[in-house]
Amino acid sequence: MRLRSVELEMPRPGAAVDFLEGAWGLLDAGKTRNASYLRATGDHPYVMAISDAPQPAIRSVTFSGVQKELEGIRARATQAGILLSACAAELDEPGAPAGFRIVGPEGQCFRFVTDREPVARVNDPDRPIGLTHVPINAADADACTQFALDVLGFRLSDRTKLMDFVRCDSTHHALAFVRTGVCALHHMAFEMQDLDAVMRAVGRLRDAGITPAWGPGRHGPGNNVFAYYVAPFGAVLEYTSEIERVDDSYKVGGPDDWKWPPGRIDHWGLSKRDDERLHAAERSFRFRSPS
Ligand SMILES: [Fe+2]
Repeated sequence: MRLRSVELEMPRPGAAVDFLEGAWGLLDAGKTRNASYLRATGDHPYVMAISDAPQPAIRSVTFSGVQKELEGIRARATQAGILLSACAAELDEPGAPAGFRIVGPEGQCFRFVTDREPVARVNDPDRPIGLTHVPINAADADACTQFALDVLGFRLSDRTKLMDFVRCDSTHHALAFVRTGVCALHHMAFEMQDLDAVMRAVGRLRDAGITPAWGPGRHGPGNNVFAYYVAPFGAVLEYTSEIERVDDSYKVGGPDDWKWPPGRIDHWGLSKRDDERLHAAERSFRFRSPS
Protein backbone atom coordinates (compact mmCIF):
# COMPACT_ATOMS: atom_id res chain seq x y z
CA MET A 1 0.00 0.00 0.00
CA ARG A 2 1.37 3.42 -0.90
CA LEU A 3 0.30 6.98 -0.17
CA ARG A 4 -0.90 8.34 -3.49
CA SER A 5 -2.75 11.68 -3.42
CA VAL A 6 -4.65 14.34 -1.53
CA GLU A 7 -7.86 15.81 -2.89
CA LEU A 8 -8.51 19.42 -1.87
CA GLU A 9 -11.11 22.06 -2.59
CA MET A 10 -10.74 25.81 -2.24
CA PRO A 11 -11.70 29.19 -3.65
CA ARG A 12 -9.61 30.42 -6.63
CA PRO A 13 -8.22 26.98 -7.54
CA GLY A 14 -6.50 28.41 -10.63
CA ALA A 15 -4.08 30.44 -8.51
CA ALA A 16 -3.20 27.35 -6.46
CA VAL A 17 -2.58 25.31 -9.60
CA ASP A 18 -0.35 28.08 -10.99
CA PHE A 19 1.75 28.03 -7.81
CA LEU A 20 1.96 24.23 -7.65
CA GLU A 21 2.93 23.90 -11.31
CA GLY A 22 5.23 26.89 -11.08
CA ALA A 23 7.59 27.39 -8.18
CA TRP A 24 6.55 24.23 -6.31
CA GLY A 25 7.43 21.96 -9.24
CA LEU A 26 4.43 19.70 -9.88
CA LEU A 27 3.22 18.83 -13.38
CA ASP A 28 -0.14 19.13 -15.11
CA ALA A 29 -2.00 15.80 -15.05
CA GLY A 30 -5.19 16.96 -16.71
CA LYS A 31 -8.46 18.58 -15.90
CA THR A 32 -12.01 17.31 -15.63
CA ARG A 33 -15.27 19.13 -15.05
CA ASN A 34 -14.71 18.76 -11.30
CA ALA A 35 -11.00 19.20 -10.68
CA SER A 36 -7.49 20.02 -11.83
CA TYR A 37 -4.98 17.24 -11.31
CA LEU A 38 -1.28 17.62 -10.61
CA ARG A 39 1.29 14.87 -10.76
CA ALA A 40 4.85 14.47 -9.53
CA THR A 41 7.66 12.54 -11.24
CA GLY A 42 6.74 9.18 -9.69
CA ASP A 43 4.35 6.62 -11.14
CA HIS A 44 1.15 7.86 -9.49
CA PRO A 45 -1.31 9.34 -12.03
CA TYR A 46 -1.61 12.40 -9.81
CA VAL A 47 -0.70 13.51 -6.30
CA MET A 48 -3.03 16.46 -5.82
CA ALA A 49 -6.52 17.22 -7.05
CA ILE A 50 -7.92 20.70 -6.64
CA SER A 51 -11.60 21.56 -6.97
CA ASP A 52 -13.42 24.87 -6.79
CA ALA A 53 -15.42 25.51 -3.62
CA PRO A 54 -16.34 28.51 -1.46
CA GLN A 55 -14.31 27.27 1.53
CA PRO A 56 -11.01 25.40 1.75
CA ALA A 57 -11.49 21.75 2.68
CA ILE A 58 -9.81 18.39 2.32
CA ARG A 59 -11.99 15.88 0.51
CA SER A 60 -9.82 12.79 0.94
CA VAL A 61 -6.44 11.18 1.34
CA THR A 62 -5.93 8.39 -1.21
CA PHE A 63 -3.75 5.28 -1.04
CA SER A 64 -3.05 2.88 -3.87
CA GLY A 65 -2.47 -0.81 -3.52
CA VAL A 66 -3.04 -4.16 -5.09
CA GLN A 67 -6.41 -5.89 -5.01
CA LYS A 68 -5.47 -8.19 -2.14
CA GLU A 69 -4.53 -5.25 0.11
CA LEU A 70 -7.79 -3.49 -0.72
CA GLU A 71 -9.79 -6.61 0.01
CA GLY A 72 -8.17 -6.91 3.47
CA ILE A 73 -9.11 -3.34 4.37
CA ARG A 74 -12.61 -3.77 3.02
CA ALA A 75 -13.12 -6.93 5.08
CA ARG A 76 -11.84 -5.36 8.32
CA ALA A 77 -13.91 -2.19 7.80
CA THR A 78 -17.05 -4.20 7.08
CA GLN A 79 -16.47 -6.31 10.15
CA ALA A 80 -16.01 -3.19 12.28
CA GLY A 81 -19.25 -1.73 10.90
CA ILE A 82 -17.41 1.27 9.42
CA LEU A 83 -19.02 3.36 6.71
CA LEU A 84 -17.61 2.35 3.36
CA SER A 85 -18.67 3.31 -0.13
CA ALA A 86 -17.59 2.96 -3.73
CA CYS A 87 -15.58 5.76 -5.37
CA ALA A 88 -17.84 5.75 -8.43
CA ALA A 89 -18.16 9.53 -8.56
CA GLU A 90 -14.43 9.97 -9.09
CA LEU A 91 -13.88 7.41 -11.80
CA ASP A 92 -13.08 10.04 -14.41
CA GLU A 93 -9.83 10.74 -12.54
CA PRO A 94 -6.43 10.25 -14.17
CA GLY A 95 -5.35 6.65 -13.54
CA ALA A 96 -8.91 5.33 -13.82
CA PRO A 97 -8.81 4.14 -10.22
CA ALA A 98 -11.12 1.49 -8.87
CA GLY A 99 -11.68 1.20 -5.16
CA PHE A 100 -13.63 2.47 -2.21
CA ARG A 101 -13.59 5.03 0.52
CA ILE A 102 -13.76 4.66 4.26
CA VAL A 103 -14.80 7.26 6.78
CA GLY A 104 -12.40 7.56 9.71
CA PRO A 105 -13.33 8.09 13.37
CA GLU A 106 -13.57 11.88 12.98
CA GLY A 107 -15.16 11.99 9.53
CA GLN A 108 -11.89 11.81 7.60
CA CYS A 109 -12.29 10.35 4.12
CA PHE A 110 -9.64 7.77 3.19
CA ARG A 111 -9.76 6.28 -0.29
CA PHE A 112 -8.12 3.00 -1.29
CA VAL A 113 -7.71 2.38 -5.00
CA THR A 114 -5.98 0.32 -7.63
CA ASP A 115 -4.86 2.43 -10.56
CA ARG A 116 -5.81 0.74 -13.79
CA GLU A 117 -3.80 3.24 -15.85
CA PRO A 118 -0.49 4.00 -14.05
CA VAL A 119 1.82 6.55 -15.63
CA ALA A 120 5.50 6.48 -16.56
CA ARG A 121 8.02 8.11 -14.26
CA VAL A 122 9.56 11.41 -15.32
CA ASN A 123 13.27 12.03 -14.88
CA ASP A 124 13.64 15.49 -13.35
CA PRO A 125 15.65 15.83 -10.10
CA ASP A 126 14.23 19.28 -9.40
CA ARG A 127 10.60 18.21 -9.08
CA PRO A 128 8.86 16.32 -6.26
CA ILE A 129 8.73 12.54 -6.72
CA GLY A 130 5.44 12.18 -4.87
CA LEU A 131 3.81 12.58 -1.50
CA THR A 132 5.67 10.89 1.32
CA HIS A 133 3.44 11.69 4.30
CA VAL A 134 0.27 13.52 5.21
CA PRO A 135 -0.17 14.25 8.92
CA ILE A 136 -3.71 14.91 10.09
CA ASN A 137 -4.80 16.84 13.16
CA ALA A 138 -7.06 14.83 15.38
CA ALA A 139 -9.45 15.52 18.23
CA ASP A 140 -8.61 12.04 19.55
CA ALA A 141 -5.32 10.93 18.03
CA ASP A 142 -5.25 7.72 20.06
CA ALA A 143 -8.57 6.60 18.54
CA CYS A 144 -7.44 7.56 15.02
CA THR A 145 -4.18 5.66 15.41
CA GLN A 146 -6.02 2.60 16.65
CA PHE A 147 -8.31 2.84 13.61
CA ALA A 148 -5.27 3.04 11.29
CA LEU A 149 -3.74 -0.04 12.91
CA ASP A 150 -6.87 -2.17 13.31
CA VAL A 151 -8.86 -1.29 10.20
CA LEU A 152 -6.38 0.07 7.67
CA GLY A 153 -3.71 -2.45 8.67
CA PHE A 154 -1.00 0.22 9.12
CA ARG A 155 1.94 -0.23 11.51
CA LEU A 156 2.95 2.10 14.34
CA SER A 157 6.44 3.55 13.83
CA ASP A 158 6.78 6.12 16.62
CA ARG A 159 4.76 7.98 19.17
CA THR A 160 5.74 11.40 20.52
CA LYS A 161 4.03 13.77 22.92
CA LEU A 162 2.52 15.58 19.92
CA MET A 163 1.87 12.88 17.33
CA ASP A 164 1.60 9.23 16.35
CA PHE A 165 3.43 8.13 13.17
CA VAL A 166 2.01 5.19 11.21
CA ARG A 167 3.23 3.50 8.03
CA CYS A 168 1.66 1.51 5.22
CA ASP A 169 4.94 0.43 3.56
CA SER A 170 8.64 0.76 4.40
CA THR A 171 8.49 4.57 4.59
CA HIS A 172 8.66 5.54 8.28
CA HIS A 173 5.26 7.26 8.13
CA ALA A 174 2.58 7.87 5.54
CA LEU A 175 0.09 9.25 8.02
CA ALA A 176 0.52 10.84 11.40
CA PHE A 177 -2.19 11.88 13.82
CA VAL A 178 -1.44 15.14 15.60
CA ARG A 179 -2.84 15.85 19.05
CA THR A 180 -4.32 19.29 18.40
CA GLY A 181 -7.95 18.79 19.37
CA VAL A 182 -9.36 19.51 15.89
CA CYS A 183 -9.76 17.35 12.81
CA ALA A 184 -7.96 18.93 9.84
CA LEU A 185 -5.13 18.51 7.38
CA HIS A 186 -1.84 19.32 9.12
CA HIS A 187 0.50 19.34 6.11
CA MET A 188 1.45 17.54 2.91
CA ALA A 189 5.06 16.40 2.46
CA PHE A 190 6.55 16.05 -1.02
CA GLU A 191 9.54 13.77 -1.41
CA MET A 192 12.57 15.13 -3.22
CA GLN A 193 15.39 13.03 -4.63
CA ASP A 194 17.97 13.99 -2.01
CA LEU A 195 19.12 16.71 0.35
CA ASP A 196 20.52 18.76 -2.54
CA ALA A 197 17.17 18.67 -4.33
CA VAL A 198 15.46 20.00 -1.18
CA MET A 199 18.01 22.80 -0.91
CA ARG A 200 17.70 23.71 -4.61
CA ALA A 201 13.92 23.85 -4.14
CA VAL A 202 14.37 26.15 -1.14
CA GLY A 203 16.48 28.39 -3.39
CA ARG A 204 13.89 28.27 -6.17
CA LEU A 205 11.15 29.37 -3.78
CA ARG A 206 13.37 32.10 -2.42
CA ASP A 207 13.73 33.36 -6.01
CA ALA A 208 9.91 33.46 -6.11
CA GLY A 209 9.85 35.52 -2.92
CA ILE A 210 8.70 32.68 -0.66
CA THR A 211 10.67 31.73 2.43
CA PRO A 212 10.25 28.64 4.65
CA ALA A 213 8.02 28.88 7.71
CA TRP A 214 10.36 26.31 9.27
CA GLY A 215 13.57 24.79 8.04
CA PRO A 216 15.61 23.56 6.41
CA GLY A 217 16.16 21.07 9.20
CA ARG A 218 16.17 17.39 10.07
CA HIS A 219 13.41 15.74 12.10
CA GLY A 220 13.66 13.23 14.94
CA PRO A 221 11.12 10.49 14.08
CA GLY A 222 11.68 9.51 10.44
CA ASN A 223 15.04 11.33 10.40
CA ASN A 224 13.91 13.22 7.29
CA VAL A 225 15.20 16.54 6.00
CA PHE A 226 12.44 19.15 5.87
CA ALA A 227 11.53 22.65 4.71
CA TYR A 228 7.99 23.82 5.49
CA TYR A 229 6.04 26.48 3.63
CA VAL A 230 2.68 28.13 3.93
CA ALA A 231 1.46 27.96 0.33
CA PRO A 232 -0.25 31.03 -1.13
CA PHE A 233 -3.52 29.05 -1.08
CA GLY A 234 -3.23 28.56 2.68
CA ALA A 235 -2.12 24.96 3.26
CA VAL A 236 1.21 23.86 4.71
CA LEU A 237 3.50 22.07 2.24
CA GLU A 238 6.83 20.40 2.96
CA TYR A 239 9.78 19.43 0.83
CA THR A 240 11.44 16.40 2.33
CA SER A 241 14.09 13.79 1.60
CA GLU A 242 16.03 10.95 3.22
CA ILE A 243 13.06 9.69 5.22
CA GLU A 244 13.98 6.53 7.10
CA ARG A 245 12.92 3.22 5.55
CA VAL A 246 11.99 0.66 8.19
CA ASP A 247 10.94 -2.96 8.45
CA ASP A 248 9.28 -5.18 11.04
CA SER A 249 12.42 -5.06 13.19
CA TYR A 250 11.95 -1.32 13.80
CA LYS A 251 11.61 -0.58 17.50
CA VAL A 252 8.58 1.62 18.12
CA GLY A 253 9.67 4.74 19.96
CA GLY A 254 7.66 6.50 22.65
CA PRO A 255 7.56 10.10 23.96
CA ASP A 256 10.57 9.50 26.23
CA ASP A 257 12.68 8.44 23.22
CA TRP A 258 11.98 11.69 21.37
CA LYS A 259 12.97 14.57 23.63
CA TRP A 260 15.03 17.51 22.38
CA PRO A 261 17.68 19.35 24.39
CA PRO A 262 16.79 22.96 25.38
CA GLY A 263 16.71 25.31 22.38
CA ARG A 264 16.31 22.53 19.78
CA ILE A 265 13.28 21.11 18.00
CA ASP A 266 15.24 19.50 15.16
CA HIS A 267 18.71 18.05 14.69
CA TRP A 268 20.28 21.07 13.00
CA GLY A 269 18.84 24.10 14.80
CA LEU A 270 19.27 26.30 11.71
CA SER A 271 15.88 27.93 11.80
CA LYS A 272 13.13 28.84 14.17
CA ARG A 273 9.63 27.48 13.59
CA ASP A 274 7.25 30.32 12.66
CA ASP A 275 4.44 29.18 14.91
CA GLU A 276 2.29 32.18 14.19
CA ARG A 277 2.11 31.44 10.45
CA LEU A 278 2.00 27.67 10.78
CA HIS A 279 -0.58 27.32 13.53
CA ALA A 280 -3.48 28.74 11.51
CA ALA A 281 -2.36 27.23 8.19
CA GLU A 282 -2.09 23.76 9.73
CA ARG A 283 -5.79 23.96 10.59
CA SER A 284 -7.12 25.73 7.49
CA PHE A 285 -8.28 22.65 5.54
CA ARG A 286 -10.95 20.76 7.49
CA PHE A 287 -12.33 17.48 6.25
CA ARG A 288 -15.43 17.93 4.19
CA SER A 289 -18.26 15.51 4.99
CA PRO A 290 -18.10 12.76 2.37
CA SER A 291 -21.02 13.03 -0.05
FE1 LIG B 1 6.27 16.38 7.65
